[in-house]
Amino acid sequence: VFQVTLAMVKPDAIDRADDIVDRVLASGLAVLNRRRVRLTLEQSTELYMEHYGKSFFTELVAFMSSGPVLVMVLAGNDAVSAWRDLIGPTDSVKAREVAPKSIRALFGTDNRLNAVHGSDSLLSAYREIKFFFPTFVVADTQESG
Ligand code: CMP
Repeated sequence: VFQVTLAMVKPDAIDRADDIVDRVLASGLAVLNRRRVRLTLEQSTELYMEHYGKSFFTELVAFMSSGPVLVMVLAGNDAVSAWRDLIGPTDSVKAREVAPKSIRALFGTDNRLNAVHGSDSLLSAYREIKFFFPTFVVADTQESG
């Protein structure tokens, strides 16, 4: 089904954002909107609130506000899983073992410095798109997945 999702190039890979965007487009996904932003600590804390209390939370939000990120609204067939398949597993070390052509394998370092983010579900995608693009209208009533 046609979906939108939120993709982000993280601070560790921002210098290679053009190469990553090339891979997005080569996959057949469309970039509907894009914005380069630098998150404050407060904003990255809000964005990653679901991980609050986890051992890596403090490092994660510090990393995510350490430099600019590129956020994009991607669209296409099954965009949520299509983008997650393209980026590979969270840990770039594991990605190099199990998905050596994935974006995290090629552009990331480990399980924190992992180059990119992708929404884990359609509901997360809608929340994250609204976070970065408050005026973006998602003309899609499918609420599951
Ligand atoms: P992301 O897909 O953006 O979602 C949560 C992020 O937390 C994840 O990518 C990693 O950057 C980070 N993360 C997840 N697990 C760990 C971990 N065990 N140690 C450090 N960072 C992690």
